[in-house]
Amino acid sequence: MDVDRVAARVRGVELSGIRVIFDMAAKMPDVIRLEAGEPDFKTPQHICEAAQKAMKEGRTRYTTSRGIPELRAAIASKAKKENNIDADPDEEIVVTAGGSCAVYLAINTVVEEGDEVLIPDPTWPHYEACVKLAGGRPLTYPLKEELGFSFDIDEIKKMITDRTKMIVVATPSNPTGGVIPLKDLKALADVAINHDILILSDEVYEKIVYDGEKHYSIASLSGMKDRCITVNSFSKTYAMTGWRLGYAIAPKDIATNMAKLNLFVNSCPSSVSQEAGLAALTGPQDDVVMMLNEYSKRRRVIVDGLSRIEGFTINPPKGAFYAFPKISKLNYSSWDLCMLLLKEGRVATVPGSAFGACGEGYIRISYANSVEKIKEAISRIEETLSKIRR
Ligand SMILES: Cc1ncc(COP(=O)(O)O)c(C=O)c1O
Repeated sequence: MDVDRVAARVRGVELSGIRVIFDMAAKMPDVIRLEAGEPDFKTPQHICEAAQKAMKEGRTRYTTSRGIPELRAAIASKAKKENNIDADPDEEIVVTAGGSCAVYLAINTVVEEGDEVLIPDPTWPHYEACVKLAGGRPLTYPLKEELGFSFDIDEIKKMITDRTKMIVVATPSNPTGGVIPLKDLKALADVAINHDILILSDEVYEKIVYDGEKHYSIASLSGMKDRCITVNSFSKTYAMTGWRLGYAIAPKDIATNMAKLNLFVNSCPSSVSQEAGLAALTGPQDDVVMMLNEYSKRRRVIVDGLSRIEGFTINPPKGAFYAFPKISKLNYSSWDLCMLLLKEGRVATVPGSAFGACGEGYIRISYANSVEKIKEAISRIEETLSKIRR
């Protein structure tokens, strides 16, 4: 293929390391797949039934690019009750094809050529790619294990220039499992207000927190609603990754223009998925509780198992469904270790370096898999590492 036919801005973004491992693992037999970031549960039955009903009744046409009013109303009431965010469903909510699309629309709506966007490191690779595609400059601030994978606000302050347009915060975090404490969100809010900066807050793992940990939305803090774009999704909370449904809550000017962009990208989110999302928000939440209890059990199994393996150190993650053990004692780069574990141990994991330079020295292991598979994966990892020590 003639590479020059492809626009430089698209050539300038790379496929994420997660995808590379995923593709390799998919071609190999008998691999335990702990690289993917998606729940292994089925979408709850009542949600599927709502979608089937919508299909049977012919609710299969284009909707508005903001999403159906009933779903926006349900999102507004959820946001008020659970996140303490007061959003106007007609003007401040946009339903999107997953949280990924919400992030893309948000960044492309506000970032001008040359604008600087501060993003966490390590983090989900999507923000960096979207900032680059929008012509902006992604700059990373470190998340530190000794701070529970939160940030040092002074390091963020030092990075601010007159081109800083936006700061991205993601809590709970992929890949670290860290949950940003309220005091740090307050410090970040002060910085955003003092320097007139927007915040993109990715909260797609909000429901997956352990040991009484509490999730806070930065948009609920005083003076923040008008400068926050809060991104959320049905993918992780309701095991709905394939339905492609998420949303953003944003100030009116930004939401209106995100909806405009949504029209050009997607026309609208899938009508059937929106009906399913409505049932998810308004129906029973027992499955959400059941999934959290399961993740919680698996988390204990993986943390105990990895702690026993020489060379790994791990603090129990506070949220999401990823273990992010430190591997620096093993004298392998994170990429080389993941290749070894995949090729010799038949366990697929993701190198920390796929999430940014600060991810080097760690690997991400998803525990959205059965206890049985997790136990088997731990034995395989142990066995592989003991072979190289012999
Ligand atoms: C932090 C984070 N935000 C957003 C998403 C997007 O998920 P979706 O587009 O399925 O809603 C992901 C997916 O892995 C994620 O890890």
